[in-house]
Amino acid sequence: MFELAIWWDWLSLGVRWLHVITAIAWIGSSFYFIAMDLGLRQVPHLPPGAYGEEWQVHGGGFYHIQKYLVAPENMPEHLTWFKWESYSTWLSGAALLMIVYWAGGELYLIDATKTDLVLWQGIAISAASLTVGWLVYNALCKSGLSERPTLLMVLLFTLLVAMGWGYTQVFTGRAMMLHLGAFTATIMTANVFFIIIPNQRIVVADLQAGRKPDPKYGKIAKLRSTHNNYLTLPVVFLMLSNHYPLAFGTQHNWIIAALVFLMGVTIRHYFNTVHARAGNPRWTWVATTLLFLAIILLSMAPLSQSDYDAEEARALTPREQVFASAEGFEDVQDIVLGRCSMCHSREPGWPGIAHAPKNVLLETPSEIAAHAREIFLQAGVSEAMPPANVSWMEPEERAAIAAWYRTAAN
Ligand code: HEC
Repeated sequence: MFELAIWWDWLSLGVRWLHVITAIAWIGSSFYFIAMDLGLRQVPHLPPGAYGEEWQVHGGGFYHIQKYLVAPENMPEHLTWFKWESYSTWLSGAALLMIVYWAGGELYLIDATKTDLVLWQGIAISAASLTVGWLVYNALCKSGLSERPTLLMVLLFTLLVAMGWGYTQVFTGRAMMLHLGAFTATIMTANVFFIIIPNQRIVVADLQAGRKPDPKYGKIAKLRSTHNNYLTLPVVFLMLSNHYPLAFGTQHNWIIAALVFLMGVTIRHYFNTVHARAGNPRWTWVATTLLFLAIILLSMAPLSQSDYDAEEARALTPREQVFASAEGFEDVQDIVLGRCSMCHSREPGWPGIAHAPKNVLLETPSEIAAHAREIFLQAGVSEAMPPANVSWMEPEERAAIAAWYRTAAN
């Protein structure tokens, strides 16, 4: 009843559910506002201070929207703020990061074939990198570079690529992609929390006091929101990538991530232009397709034998030691090699499986011990693996896995 592994997995699903919902709300409202903003029309007879208007129809009614560039003349009676979409996405994402990559750090965060970091050091790098990244980015934006938005964008891209490369030096491929996404999303939420909303508050306070708000606040917010606009799509890709080992499970994963950021720009550029009725730049789709093809080619680099050798040679972590020395491990090892390794190996033998699914490798004792909880959940207490029981796993074998896991976990 109180088996930690089971409760933990449900917690993970619950938080993930929340995170996806809040992210839909955030990105959905962000897409909506960008498209509306670009679609505004300058018509005669707008009220003083208004820049454009738009009519929309949705859900059985008509909406009439007008945009005031700096602020209306007087403080409106009702004002809806859009900020919790962003904050709750970041908060739930941070919780999910802790559940999957900090608590599960030995398996998902630190790559033991690359560094000797212990868990708390990996966690410290994870947390510090997200904070420092924002500080660097914010300093760049506040320097004179804000007058040169294109150069600023190029520097931001360079920063992201450098971070991606840096993460690969210590983290697993999954953790690298995910952290790069989290790093980017942290910039986006911090833009809302530290810049856009506080500036908006100053404008509101000015209005309430009867002062004329300074247009510079709107300009600063616009720069940050433009960055957020171009970063949105890559973040979603990076977050999803951990389900696709071809994206993260190669040594070129940081280059793949860099190309994904460029795809984010080419795709957004198309929609930004079309929504602004400024043309139909089809070349962006050619560029996007070429970038995607380059990514696919990069993912085909074979997994190296040296990776396998390094895995075999490395010392077991204390946690892995517990599972590897627990009663029943030898049997479990035979079961896994017989029922799982045809798919979960560096060179899968199962037709149609070109790369170990989810990059879960179950070949060496260290890998089997490291994945103890996953093996228990996927093939001990549930029948999720093997898919459709294609390798004819017997109930006694599942029982043996569950018994081994429970012995070691206690
Ligand atoms: C026929 C090929 C095949 C066999 C055999 C197989 N798996 Fe898998 N495994 C897959 C595929 C495909 C996925 C990815 C499923 C998905 O994307 O949801 C996967 C995913 C997994 C995952 C990751 C689950 C997640 O959501 O992160 C684990 C852990 C796993 N398998 C363990 C095992 C174990 C243990 C066995 C043996 C008892 C086994 N697999 C046998 C194909 C296989």
